[in-house]
This record gives sequence, C-alpha cells and structure tokens, in this order.
Amino acid sequence: MLDLFIDKTHDENRQGERFMSTSTEEIVYTKRFYIESYGCQMNFSDSEIVASILNKSGFGPTSNFEDADVVLLNTCSIREKAEQTIRNRLQTFRQIKKQKPAMLIGVLGCMAERLKSKFLEEEKLVDIVIGPDAYRALPALIEEAGEGQRAVNVLLSREETYADISPVRLNSNGVTGFVSIMRGCNNMCSFCVVPFTRGRERSRDAHSIINECAELFNDGYREVTLLGQNVDSYYWIDESKDEIVTFAKLLEKVALINPLLRVRFSTSHPKDITDEVLFTISKYENICDYIHLPVQSGSTRILQLMNRTYTREWYLAKIKRIREIIPDCGISSDIITGFCTETEDDHGDTLTLMEYARYDMSYMFFYSERPGTLAARRYADDIPEETKRRRLSEVVKLQNQLSQASNKNDVGKIFKVLIEGDSKKSDENWMGRSSQNKVVIFPKAENDFRKGDYAFVKINDCTGATLIGRTVSTI
Ligand code: 5AD
Ligand code: SF4
Repeated sequence: MLDLFIDKTHDENRQGERFMSTSTEEIVYTKRFYIESYGCQMNFSDSEIVASILNKSGFGPTSNFEDADVVLLNTCSIREKAEQTIRNRLQTFRQIKKQKPAMLIGVLGCMAERLKSKFLEEEKLVDIVIGPDAYRALPALIEEAGEGQRAVNVLLSREETYADISPVRLNSNGVTGFVSIMRGCNNMCSFCVVPFTRGRERSRDAHSIINECAELFNDGYREVTLLGQNVDSYYWIDESKDEIVTFAKLLEKVALINPLLRVRFSTSHPKDITDEVLFTISKYENICDYIHLPVQSGSTRILQLMNRTYTREWYLAKIKRIREIIPDCGISSDIITGFCTETEDDHGDTLTLMEYARYDMSYMFFYSERPGTLAARRYADDIPEETKRRRLSEVVKLQNQLSQASNKNDVGKIFKVLIEGDSKKSDENWMGRSSQNKVVIFPKAENDFRKGDYAFVKINDCTGATLIGRTVSTI
C-alpha cells in the first residue's frame, strides 16, 4: 500500500525531490514517475492532471527517466509521423526496462485510445494503456500492472472534465499557464482523428475554471490560455443562478479576475466564433488581441470534402469581421496541403486565401491519412507525397513572407509585453509576448523588470519570427 501525500507547492513539485505540505509536515514520495508529452497543448495540460492524480497516490515526479518506477508517454495520433516518433521512444524505454524489469511503461492519450490493447498484445511495448478520459484509474492500473496483470482502460466518457483536479504545473515558466475548459470534439472534420480519440464534446464547470485561473493569478501567473478543441462551443448552465455561460461570458468572467491577468484561448472554429466573442475581446484590454482560426484549405470544394461546414468566402468574411471589431488583431491558422483530390487550382486557392487573410503565423502540414477517419473511409489518399511536400513548401514559403511583412509593419510601434523569461539566445535580453502573441526581445539593461512584469517596448527591428526593441516608459 502506498502512503498518501498532499502537495501544494508547484515549484517544489517540479524538482521531484522532497516536499513539504502546507502544514510543515514533511512529505516524502515513495515512488517516482516520469512523464513525456507529445502533440497539442491539451495533452500537455492533461499531463498536469495526471501528475496531480499521481502525487495524491504517493508518486513524485522525476525529470530523469532512469530513476522512475513508472515511465509515461502522453501520446498524439494526429499525424502518422507523431505516432512514429512515439514508437521510437517506446523502443528506447523498452531497452532500459531490460536492465530494470520492475519499471513500468505506460502510454496515455490519443494513441492509447486509438490502438487500445493492441499495444499490450501485439506490440508488447508497454505495461499500461490508458485513454484520455480514464486518468483517475491510473494509480489502480499501475498497481495491477505491478502485479503482472493486464492494465488497460480506454473508456471514453460523456461527463469527465477533471473539473475538481488541481493540475500540478510541469515545466512551467511560472508566468503563463494553460487551463482546460472543455474536452472532446463533436465536429467531424473528415481528416481528423480527434473525435475518435477524445470522444464527445463536454464543457467544464465554469466555477472550477474561474477558481483555477484565480489560483494561478495568486501564484504569480500573469497569463492563462483557455484550452479546448473548439472553445467557441463552450456551453455550461449555472443552475444556481439560472445562467447560461457561453464562451464569450466565460472569457469575460476570466478577464474580470484581475486586469493584470492576460487571457488567451485556443482553438476557435471559424463556423462557431461569434460577434459576441469578438466584442468581448475588444471590450477587455486583458483579453489578448489574437485569434487562432484554422482554415485548413482555401478551396471551397476541398473544405466541403473536409466537412469544415464553411466556404472560402464565408471564412474571408469572418476575417474581415475580426479586423472590423478588433483592428489590431493577430490572426494565425492551420493549413493542410495535399488533401484527397486536391488539384493545383485548389492549392492555388489556399495560397490566395493566405494572402487575403494576411496571417501572422501558421501551422502547416501535409495530409496524413488516419485510419478510421471519415476521409480514410470515403476518399482515396490520392495525392503523391512528393506533390504534398512541394505544395507544403510553397505554403511555408508564402507564410514566411507574410510573417516577415507583418513584423516589418510593427517596426516603430509600441507594444505592451508580458515578460516570460530570458531570451533563448542571451540572458542579457528579456523575452516576452505582445497581446498579438508575437515574441518580443529587448535588453534587460536600463530597467529593473522581472519575469511576469509588463513592459512597453518600442520595436526597432525584426526577423521573420521575432520583434526586437527597447523599453519606453509609456505609450
Ligand atoms: N493530416 C494532416 N494534418 C492534420 N491535422 C489534423 N489532422 C490532420 C491530418 N490527418 C492538422 C489540422 C489541425 C491541426 C491540429 O492538425 O490542421 O487543425
Ligand atoms: Fe479535429 Fe476538426 Fe475537432 Fe479540430 S475541430 S479537433 S480539426 S475534428
């Protein structure tokens, strides 16, 4: 039987050594877990929930997998390449287990959900398989696996939101934190495996979201990103007040916690983002002027095959609306090249849409067929990889030009920057972000700022990915 420990000190938690409870009683974890996360921000956020569940069961974190009793991989299935990377990593852990047979290896997340017991039976790569809605069962599964039993739980839930679990912040900079507001996805984009691996959409209790954000603020954090696959369809009924909490209402409630707490969110679906959300962003200075609005393709025909439920024109009208209501809004996108039947004309439509939208940044991929998705069942993956890659390189080249142009346009402007820490290249410079989510670098000399402070920075130079400037006392 494991001893029970309670820990509230995030920083100490990260060191993975000894822990003090708030009542000065010393807590020693008897076992260690090591966790690696892959894929989207939601997975990283889930790992923090898993860490909290394990802490309560007597497992402390370690950043060295060789010291771990349990090694966990929180996995991603979105593209084949992600799965391949994870398989390679599992092989490495398998080798270590040969010298240390008591060490347990577990796969969590989307790949666990997709491959289920195949991992245990056919591949014999792991000891524990646990899907995204079953993390509460992890301590019991670890015990079962330790006794040599089959340890699988891939049940998806219609209710689980882990609302009551206070995540343990892992690898955090102490300034920016992620808060999950919903789980799953009801959109059936035909290329996407997420609805199958993460299940039906459900929204988390708004009170627990506000409490978590307020707690982060009290712990010194100055930015929260509200996370969901499709945040605009957040919907929760507060029965005590007979109030419907929409995403716009939720944004407002989080913004009102404190004007010094910045609020971001990800991801929006173009079909669901409302004027109410846009007006809420423009009303509150601390809700960042930045929207990630994945388009996926610029061709209406391809969008239809992707089941995105909007046309090229409809999407562009949405971009226009955003710029009307929030004139300085940063906008980014996700783009897929080489989807089934995509012609050169369709590809050309993606390039022209990018130009119209003037994206500040994009995440760009070539299409990777995922087993079980609507596209895999309905359409042939008929674009040669060479063509997919060539189109992707054209999209990337154009995005680089657009990012460069967008950054050049910011030279001479002043931005309010939240300082996240040292710049990667030199600890003589600070790194922070503008409201529009652009990385801003500026010298530490001439001021006595600290991490988590806001600075006004006048931009005097830029690269494709970064703004460079100097602080000014006021706008
Ligand atoms: N192939 C390539 N890219 C994909 N994405 C999702 N599924 C696939 C796929 N099968 C991309 C989409 C999505 C982002 C998170 O990943 O652009 O918005
Ligand atoms: Fe996948 Fe579409 Fe849901 Fe995003 S909105 S997770 S792309 S199904």
